[in-house]
Amino acid sequence: MARTVWDSSVGKKTVMAVSGLIMLLYLVVHMIGNLKIFFGAGEFNHYAHWLRTVGEPFMHYEWTLWLIRIVLVVAAIAHAVSAYQLSRRDIRARPSKYVHKKPRATYATRTMRWGGIILGLFIVWHILDLTTGTVHSGGFQEGHPYQNVVDTFSTWYGDTIYIVAMLALGLHVRHGFWSAAQTLGAGSRSRDRALKTVANVLALLLTAGFIAVPVGVMTGVVS
Ligand code: HEM
Repeated sequence: MARTVWDSSVGKKTVMAVSGLIMLLYLVVHMIGNLKIFFGAGEFNHYAHWLRTVGEPFMHYEWTLWLIRIVLVVAAIAHAVSAYQLSRRDIRARPSKYVHKKPRATYATRTMRWGGIILGLFIVWHILDLTTGTVHSGGFQEGHPYQNVVDTFSTWYGDTIYIVAMLALGLHVRHGFWSAAQTLGAGSRSRDRALKTVANVLALLLTAGFIAVPVGVMTGVVS
């Protein structure tokens, strides 16, 4: 049964929609959490510490955080694998026999593919930068995310990587939210306008909220 669903295009699109919505929920929470940087180092670092102790005493140190990490990794892999398989299917289904020029994918399809690749690379960079500190520009300090964030956004390449990724994120969420709603059957003639508005507002708020942090550091509001 599960195999049949996974093998169908509708099944893969459903996996994409559900995993995308899980990641979107995480992003809304992450964006709101990041805005605490405007209230100073004490509050931001305290929030990062809370992320590790949430659920105690029932949960051990970092258990909840690891649970969230596992859900996110599973969602990201499911999202990427189904996207890849759907796009292979799409290419195979093209009538290419008598066509000399390769038919071009639509603007939305190309934006989603490139946006997805940019975001995948960004997430790897971002974790190596601010979670493990492997590629961090300054001296990475465990437990002091405020200073780590300020260090990252004090370099031109840190600002560039993040701002480009946030713009890609906005475009990806804008189209992705709309597609997910259609796949999950929420679309209808009367609701489509409202769904488009929600997708646009969500994309705009996420992009603006995330970009506010590097802009805050660049302008000296956060230092
Ligand atoms: C300006 C934008 C962003 C800032 C300032 C920021 C900041 C941070 C910081 C400080 C951490 C480490 C948290 C800690 O160790 O306590 C983190 C982790 C993370 N961020 Fe971001 N983030 C931003 C955008 C994003 C975006 C757009 C995504 C996804 C597309 C993302 C996904 C993640 C993930 C998956 C983690 C790892 C969480 C973990 O398991 O520790 N972030 N971020």
